[in-house]
Formats: sequence, C-alpha cells, structure tokens
Amino acid sequence: MTSSSDVCRAPGTAPAAVAAAPARGAGLALRGAALGRPGAPALAGVDLDVAPGEILTVVGPSGCGKSTLLRTLAGLLPALDGTVEQDGLPLTAPAAERALVFQEDALLPWRTLRANVELPLAIAGLARAERRTQAEAWLRRVGLAEQARKLPHRVSGGQRQRAQLARALAAAPRAVLMDEPFGALDAQTRAGMQDLLVDVLRGTGATVVFVTHDVDEALFLGDRVALLGAGRLLGVREVPRPRDRAAHDDPARVALRRTVLESLGDRREPATAPSAPAGSSAPLKN
Ligand SMILES: Nc1ncnc2c1ncn2[C@@H]1O[C@H](COP(=O)(O)OP(=O)(O)OP(=O)(O)O)[C@@H](O)[C@H]1O
Ligand SMILES: [Mg+2]
Repeated sequence: MTSSSDVCRAPGTAPAAVAAAPARGAGLALRGAALGRPGAPALAGVDLDVAPGEILTVVGPSGCGKSTLLRTLAGLLPALDGTVEQDGLPLTAPAAERALVFQEDALLPWRTLRANVELPLAIAGLARAERRTQAEAWLRRVGLAEQARKLPHRVSGGQRQRAQLARALAAAPRAVLMDEPFGALDAQTRAGMQDLLVDVLRGTGATVVFVTHDVDEALFLGDRVALLGAGRLLGVREVPRPRDRAAHDDPARVALRRTVLESLGDRREPATAPSAPAGSSAPLKN
C-alpha cells in the first residue's frame, strides 16, 4: 500500500512530469470472489485479473453488479467470499492510490474548480504553492485553464466531469475506478471526454476499470471488455486495436460488438455495421 508520502512523491502528479517518469499501474485481481451486500451477493465466483496500466471496461445489464465490483476494488465493500488483491496483497480498505470517479457530480460545490483539484494534493501533504501549481497544470491539461476560479455550478456538466477527472488524476493514482462517468453527457461532449481520457491517461501508467452502459464507449476505451450478467462474470474479451472510432466494419470489432450487445440483453443488429462473419460467436474467454 502506498503511503501518503509516496503519493506526494509520485512524479505523475504534474502533467509535465508524467511523461518523464510514469507511475506504475496497480495490478488488481479477484479470485473466486463473491461480491455484494451480506446475504445478497450480486456476483459470485468472479476470477478476474486487471493488468497494470490496462484499461478494462465493464458492461452488463442494470443491477448486475458493475458498481458493486468497482466499490469492491475501491476497498469500500469487502468481498463476501474469495479474495481481492492489489499486486498480490489483500485489498481491504480505500486508499488514495485508487481514485474513484462517479457519474454524478462529486465536486464540492463551495470550492472553485482549482480548490477541488487541490484537495487530494492537500491530503497528500503538498505545500500550498506546489498544489496550486499542480492543480492549475491539471486544469490546463483538461482544457479548463480559464475556468479554474469558477465554482462548479458556474460551468457545464462536461466541464465538471473534466474537473473531476483532473482531481482524480492529480493524486497520481495507480488505479482509476470510473463508474459511468460520462453517462449524463450528450453524445458529442461524451466523445470528447473519451478522447481526453485516453490522452491524459497516456503516460500515467494508471490501471483503469471503467463501467459503462454504452457498447461503443466500452469498445473505444477498453483494451479488454468484461461482461457481467446472471450473477457472474460471463467473460473478458480483448478489443481489436488500433483504437479507432471509425472502424465500424472491422469484422473482429463487429463480432465483439454483437457479443457485448447480447450480453446486455440487446439482440438488435447495429444499424451501421455489416453482419458478423460465421464463427464470430465464439464462447467468451476469461
Ligand atoms: N446499498 C445497497 N443495499 C442493498 N443492495 C444494494 C445496494 N446497492 C446495490 N444493491 C443491489 O446489488 C445489486 C447490484 O447492484 P449494482 O449497483 O452493483 O448494479 P449495477 O450493475 O451497477 O447497476 P446499474 O447499471 O443500474 O448502475 C442489485 O441487485 C442492487 O439492488
Ligand atoms: Mg451502477
């Protein structure tokens, strides 16, 4: 577990320093894990490895346990059975090195965007001048330099999500756990946020677990996509690369898109994509 002094020391706190010395991402693992509230497991028998630095997207129908999985990985909810580990050690409590980002606006409404981004840096023990410098650098990085002194209610929903992203990354987390963070945004703002996320993550080395209802978001962002349903992890599939929003007709992508849609209980054919080739419905592999 990283101490607050480690968080403070980590070079990834300043965007300028990220490329020079990437922080290593956390490796997360669940083994035979049952997750949920006592007496009401949402998921059972979960075996899952998230590799350091990978982006794992998680999809599944409403109520299947996506948020439960994230809360467990955050250390907020103990596993009912089995084990949850970070880098081979039991993960049992929340820590600054694992940042959480939610769909709902979690900024403190009485603090400016800059003061919000400064918060984890203050907790990490940075001196005022240093945390101001780093917070401003992160706000510039997410395109909010001009909004730094505004209160959250004076900026748009997309800008608030960008500020939340800046606040999450300012703490140089080794893992970022994101629960439908762009769910409330319009399509165009959302696509912009996806591009921004990929861009700002580059070089941080952070491991990302990203929950979404949106199949295209899952396939665009994820190195792999985990499918949840029927009280278990149905499988984990690798996403074809390169990351390309326009690659609708790539057969491997079409097949995976169909698999993901089916796991969501949606059997409609995608309107713009051609039908998948025979043999594309291979069983899911974990
Ligand atoms: N605070 C809670 N107390 C009791 N049960 C809960 C609580 N939160 C969630 N659950 C239950 O746990 C199960 C999984 O919920 P979870 O929130 O993880 O689903 P989800 O996949 O994130 O759904 P959604 O897509 O709607 O956000 C559901 O059956 C839900 O009713
Ligand atoms: Mg949820």
